[in-house]
Amino acid sequence: MCPIGWARNSRESHRKMVFSCYNTAMVRFTIITLFREAIEPYLQSSMMEKATRKGLVQFDFVNLRDFGLGPHKSVDDTPYGGGDGMLLRCEPVFAAIEQVKAADPAAVVILPTPVGEVWKQESARVFAEKYPDNPHYIILCPHYEGYDERILSIVDYKVSLGKYVLTGGELPALIIIDSVVRLIPGVLGGETSAEIESFSDGDNLEYPQYTRPEDFRGMKVPEVLLSGNHGEIAKWRKEHSGTTLS
Ligand code: ADE
Repeated sequence: MCPIGWARNSRESHRKMVFSCYNTAMVRFTIITLFREAIEPYLQSSMMEKATRKGLVQFDFVNLRDFGLGPHKSVDDTPYGGGDGMLLRCEPVFAAIEQVKAADPAAVVILPTPVGEVWKQESARVFAEKYPDNPHYIILCPHYEGYDERILSIVDYKVSLGKYVLTGGELPALIIIDSVVRLIPGVLGGETSAEIESFSDGDNLEYPQYTRPEDFRGMKVPEVLLSGNHGEIAKWRKEHSGTTLS
C-alpha cells in the first residue's frame, strides 16, 4: 500500500508536468462495481462525456457479480467472530482485479474506504503526475458493510472521501474520477498555448469571484476588481484567500 504523498514542485513547473504527461496519454479508469447503473450516467454527461468523446479518457466497467461464487453468484459473507452485516469476499475481488491486471499489469488499484488517506485537490494532482504514460486506475467499489481485510493485499491506495460513512464506493469513485479528469488539458481548457496560460486547475476557488452585473440588487462587485490594476487585484485576492485546496 502506498501513501499518496505530497511531493510538489512550484505551481508552474507542476503545471508543465501535468500538461506534458497528458499530451500523449489517455487516462483509463476501470470500475469494479455491482452498481454500474449508479455510476454510468454521470460519466456519460457533461465534462466526463466530453473527455471521453475527445479520447482523453476511457471508462470501463467490470461487474463484480460475474466473479461471484455458487449458483447465486455470491460476493459477500458473514464476518468470522460475529458481528453485523456482510463482508465482501476475497475470491470475487481478486478474480476481478486479476483479470484486469492480466491485460495491464501496471494498472493501479484504488480502494475507496472511510479508513483511507483523505482525498484532496493535491491528491488529484499527484495522481495526474504520477503515472505519465497511459495511466490506468482500477477503482474497486465495495458495498455492504465492509470487506475482508485480506483484500488490502491487492490494493495500491486506500482513499477516504471524508470522515463519514457512505453505503458504497460508487460516489467516492465518481469524485476521484472527476477530480482527476478535470485536470486533463482539453477537458476544461488548455488545448492551445493561449488556453494553457489561462487554464485553471481550481486554485482560483480560493478567493471570491464575481461576474456581470456589477451591481446585483445592491450587492456591488468590489471596486478593485473593476480597476484593471493587476497588482492591486492580485493583492486583494491574496488578502481574501480563505480556504486552501491542498
Ligand atoms: N466508503 C464508505 N464511506 C466512504 C468514505 N467516506 N470514503 C471513501 N469510501 C467510502
